[in-house]
Amino acid sequence: MKFKAFLCICIGVFSVLVVQAQEMSEDDIKARIQPIGKVHIAGTKVEVASSGPRSGSDIYAKSCIACHSVGVLNAPKLQDAADWSPLLENGFDTVWQNAINGIRGMPPMGTCGDCSDDDIKAAIEYMIEGI
Ligand code: HEC
Repeated sequence: MKFKAFLCICIGVFSVLVVQAQEMSEDDIKARIQPIGKVHIAGTKVEVASSGPRSGSDIYAKSCIACHSVGVLNAPKLQDAADWSPLLENGFDTVWQNAINGIRGMPPMGTCGDCSDDDIKAAIEYMIEGI
């Protein structure tokens, strides 16, 4: 008898669950899956953006920030006039060439393997903005 009672409860609980599931209308289901769809679309947009041209600040944030934010090994700090002014006295092109070829603690291309010379230029222009 006990087993039968247990079985009845199980069937009862099960049918409640089934009924609840069936009560979910198509709209409910759409509403539930919608956020996932939105996240997916947003992710796709980000991918498209990153394969396009990068700004100097993007490159800085990806490849240069590790050393140039706090001045590791005396790296000139972001938009710090005292650090950059003496270097810029050599002319922008010299500073640019030094970044491309590397100089002392500064690795060639600032470790940015997929940067073009112009990407490096854009990153430097961002680093000296306002100076
Ligand atoms: C591993 C650390 C490190 C990274 C990463 C790094 N730098 Fe540097 N950078 C340095 C150091 C150290 C110096 C100072 C070198 C010196 O004069 O002794 C420097 C100097 C420079 C200079 C001045 C060159 C000159 O004429 O003296 C430029 C421009 C520069 N970096 C650009 C960049 C750019 C752009 C990136 C990112 C694409 C980058 N760096 C990434 C460490 C780094």
